[in-house]
Order: sequence, then C-alpha cells, then structure tokens
Amino acid sequence: MSYVEVKGVAKAYGKRTIIENINVSVAKGQFISIVGASGCGKSTFLRLLLAQELPTHGEIHIDGAPMAQEPGRDHGIVFQRYSVFPHMTVIDNLVAAIAFDTNFWGRLSRARRTEERTKARKTLDRIGLGHVAGQYPADLSGGMLQRLAIAQALASDPKILLLDEPFGALDPGTKIVMHDFLQELRDETGMTVFMITHDLEEAFKLGDRVWAFDKPVWDEEDPEKNAATITYDFDARDDGIPFQTLRERTNVLQAR
Ligand SMILES: Nc1ncnc2c1ncn2[C@@H]1O[C@H](COP(=O)(O)OP(=O)(O)O)[C@@H](O)[C@H]1O
Ligand SMILES: [Mg+2]
Repeated sequence: MSYVEVKGVAKAYGKRTIIENINVSVAKGQFISIVGASGCGKSTFLRLLLAQELPTHGEIHIDGAPMAQEPGRDHGIVFQRYSVFPHMTVIDNLVAAIAFDTNFWGRLSRARRTEERTKARKTLDRIGLGHVAGQYPADLSGGMLQRLAIAQALASDPKILLLDEPFGALDPGTKIVMHDFLQELRDETGMTVFMITHDLEEAFKLGDRVWAFDKPVWDEEDPEKNAATITYDFDARDDGIPFQTLRERTNVLQAR
C-alpha cells in the first residue's frame, strides 16, 4: 500500500514551471534517493513534501490524507548546512528543537522541561553525542554536527525524514559512519526517507529506489526554460540491473 502518493504534481514560480508531471507512490518505510543536475527542482520537490510550499497543480497525499497546508510535526528535515545554533550547547540545541516543535517552550511546565531534557539526554547517548552534551557546536567535528542536526530533525518522531544533500560536506570516512548511523536509525524507526544526493554510490547504497530528476526537453539557448520531471525510477535493490548501466545513464543526467 502506498504511503506517499504524488499525483500530477507541478510547481511553477511565476511563469516558469520548475517541475511537472510528477506521479509517484512510495510505500511506508521506503528509502528514496534523488539525483539530478543542479536547478532541476529537487529541493523544490522536498519543500512540497514538507508542505512549506503548495503545488501549482496536482495533489500529494500522505497516509491516505491530503497534505496539511502547513508544515507539521510529521516531517523532519536536514540540510547540508548545519542547522544548529552556535551559541547553545549541544543538549540545549536538541531541547530547543523539541521546544520549537511543541510551539512555545515558555509555556511548558517545569516538570515537562525536565522530562524533555531527560529525553534529549537519551537521544544524545543514542546518537553517540552524550559525552559532548555540554559543549558548543564549534567544538564538534562535521560528522558530529550532522548527527546533531539529524537528532534535531528526529525530535518530533517524524514519519518522514527529508534529507537535502546531508553528507555532501563530510569527508569520505565520516560519510561511511553516517551511512551506518542512518541505516540503523531507519531499521529502528521504520521511517520513510527522501534523500537528495550528488553521490551516486551513496544513492544506490542507501536507497531502495533512485529517482533521477531531469528535463526531458533541453533548450540549449535557455537551459532554465523547460520543466524537469522524474525521468528514471530505478529499483536500487534489483541486482538484475547492471550498476554500470545505471551509473552511465545517471551520469549523463548529472553531467548537464
Ligand atoms: N522561491 C523561488 N522563487 C523563484 N524561483 C525559485 C524559487 N525556489 C527555487 N527556484 C528556482 O527553481 C529552480 C530549481 O531549484 P531547486 O529546487 O533548488 O533545484 P535543485 O535542488 O535541483 O538544485 C532553480 O532554477 C531556482 O532558481
Ligand atoms: Mg537543491
């Protein structure tokens, strides 16, 4: 059964259509990797899933219901650039994410605050940041910062995790550690994940499916002119498809 259903979705800014004819359905717990050239509307698509913006045409249903008009607690999002507050300690950063999620920290009772702090502490232990709880972001490595950002996104127990080039800035070793971390989290929570990446190996390693965003019609004079869509939907778990073939095809798309 499909969990996320995207039907005939298009998004335009003014007269310019960025993406169109997006028709996909995603089962609960699936991991979707998204690849494609810059400017093809990948981040725009995530913003639609996040309900930060509304589609110009079409509909998105999540768990059978039309999407809420406003970003809700069902989604967590992580960007490549760290979304942590530099002036707060690691644990305060996490507590702030929980507080933001519950709308207004000031309204929470003292008992509730203590409870949230305990919860934050447990999450930090879980993601391997317990020992730096009292330190500031400037003291953390890139991998640790990105763990913290993921922990913030997970503060509201999202059913869908949206990752916009989350590991792009990390060195290869840290990347691999983060892949394991993400895979564990996913096994534990059964979350549905959408991840944009420029790293094709990463896309196939982590994803159940790999979507390529591209413009079916290219205008050499005006590369911004035509809309993009999902031109390939690969089953990344199908060993029958030679990886090399996929790589060649998607490389063509990425090279643009
Ligand atoms: N709020 C906006 N208003 C106008 N144009 C936008 C807006 N957001 C994105 N765009 C344009 O939409 C296109 C796709 O952007 P984006 O979704 O960020 O692509 P990608 O993530 O694939 O690189 C870009 O050309 C960008 O300039
Ligand atoms: Mg983008």
